[in-house]
Amino acid sequence: MHALQVNGLNKAVGLSLGERLQILRDVNLSVHGGELVAVVGRSGSGKSTLLAMLGLLARPDSGAVYIAGHDTAGLTDSARSHLRSAHIGFVFQNYSLLPHLTAAQNVALPFMQGKRVPAKEIRLRVDEGLASVGLDARRNAYPRQLSGGEQQRVAVARALVRKPRVILADEPTGSLDEATAEDVLDLLIGEARGNGTALVLVTHDVEVAARADRVMRLRDGTLHDSVA
Ligand SMILES: Nc1ncnc2c1ncn2[C@@H]1O[C@H](COP(=O)(O)OP(=O)(O)OP(=O)(O)O)[C@@H](O)[C@H]1O
Ligand SMILES: [Mg+2]
Repeated sequence: MHALQVNGLNKAVGLSLGERLQILRDVNLSVHGGELVAVVGRSGSGKSTLLAMLGLLARPDSGAVYIAGHDTAGLTDSARSHLRSAHIGFVFQNYSLLPHLTAAQNVALPFMQGKRVPAKEIRLRVDEGLASVGLDARRNAYPRQLSGGEQQRVAVARALVRKPRVILADEPTGSLDEATAEDVLDLLIGEARGNGTALVLVTHDVEVAARADRVMRLRDGTLHDSVA
């Protein structure tokens, strides 16, 4: 069983005057636990749209999305959001932390949905998560009190805290300087591989893509193996 599998995914959006833009055409992708797949493609090629479908944040027009073996097609919004919080972690480029919550509260967010977890265990898991990204001393800091790299490390801890089967990362290091980006990426990739988590990483950076097991390119709405 794949951690993540999509078959025949199509997505269009309506433009003005009844025109439609086909963003994704018959997209297929399967990712194993522990595997790192990079998705590349020019701006506007549909990378973020694809991640939104994979992450159950939006529904495709047609096609199947399986998360940890669960067929998500017929699910209600609430069942989708339970599946999402249990099995999927997200890291975005920017603004991914809630500004009015501390680092620890941000990391705890994935526990606020789905199966109830005792507060004591949440506390333990949050502390572990913050320690794994080297920020245990900053648990009570608010995002504005943290550097960009520190904020992204908190976002990585949050994405990992429920040990999801899948992590979706959209340009997670796009706004960081090179050295900081490398640190954050090392953490993300190391933890994902260590936990056997499937990682789908959208990136513009060829060096980042080079670290992936497979590189896929989106072009004209279709997803292809990218031969380096
Ligand atoms: N809700 C929407 N309504 C209209 N057009 C949309 C909508 N969402 C996305 N698009 C269009 O779909 C295309 C794909 O957008 P998407 O954000 O997925 O691209 P991307 O590959 O992530 O680009 P970037 O690298 O700049 O982040 C773009 O042309 C965008 O303008
Ligand atoms: Mg994008």
